[in-house]
Amino acid sequence: MSRKGFGSSGEEWCYHGGELVRMGDVRLSPATHALNYGTGVFEGIRAYWNESKGTLQVLKLREHYERFEKSCRILHIELPHSVDELCDITLEILKRNAPREDTYIRPLAYKGAEVVGVKLQLPPELSIYTVPMGNYVELTGLRCCISSWRRTPDNAIPARAKLTGSYINTALAVDAAHRAGYDEAIFLTHDGYVSEASAANIFLIRKGQLITPDVTADILEGITRDSVMELAAKELGMQTVERRVGRTELYAADEVFLTGTGFQIAPVTEIDDRPVGTGKIGPVAEKLQEMYFRAARGEWPEYEHWTVAVEVAHQAAR
Ligand SMILES: Cc1ncc(COP(=O)(O)O)c(C=O)c1O
Repeated sequence: MSRKGFGSSGEEWCYHGGELVRMGDVRLSPATHALNYGTGVFEGIRAYWNESKGTLQVLKLREHYERFEKSCRILHIELPHSVDELCDITLEILKRNAPREDTYIRPLAYKGAEVVGVKLQLPPELSIYTVPMGNYVELTGLRCCISSWRRTPDNAIPARAKLTGSYINTALAVDAAHRAGYDEAIFLTHDGYVSEASAANIFLIRKGQLITPDVTADILEGITRDSVMELAAKELGMQTVERRVGRTELYAADEVFLTGTGFQIAPVTEIDDRPVGTGKIGPVAEKLQEMYFRAARGEWPEYEHWTVAVEVAHQAAR
């Protein structure tokens, strides 16, 4: 099953080369280092459209840029802006584009030099753009398989950093899963323990416990993962156990769900042709999904601090 892609019309404003420009006016050379060698770092941020308030609610903006900075450090990219400045630039782009729909924000820092040769001592470039984005995957129960592709180990290509090049690992796994008729792939670590999905972290419920692989399982330390742990603890009284997870624990689980900015909270109802629990969405995933969306859309006052509101005028500055 192929996944929906989301694109730009070229009219939108983006940040590129130190200024705000139209997407369609950006030109990149085929010799761009990051295009040849995968030497880039990125983020994925969601802004949810709140119809009743007429606002876009940008979810966990600062947290994403803090992680962006850490990923950049791993790739020796020195960003030209502080986290606060990056947040301000992003809000300015959203104000100009003024989308009245759910939107995805993609900051990208990369080695932009037009040189042949593998190295990292190159000046950084920064781009930030937005695209409209609805649900990236179905939220009514995914059919997953364990991938024969292993997750990249920390000492090879660190999954902790959101590096463009490491998404080859993801693409291989997802492509194989789709060709075999599954919706999504679940990675094991090199040692054979559960790591994460292609672009989402994984949680399971076993014996009443909420469990997720720990941060040494070659995962991206997801911001949604943190949000889910917070909601589970505060609202459901469930502390998450972060530990090593064996493959067949997934087969024995009562519930499994995936979390991510793109995936949101996506229940898994089948793994390797075995039903998860009852084969239907489980009660914990269902409650977390409902709470997550309420908080993310800025509809839950206690979680107001999760989002930044951007007032969207009816007329975009085009
Ligand atoms: C490999 C990978 N793991 C996990 C996640 C989930 O991270 P987050 O919740 O911060 O979006 C993502 C998505 O961005 C991802 O690409």
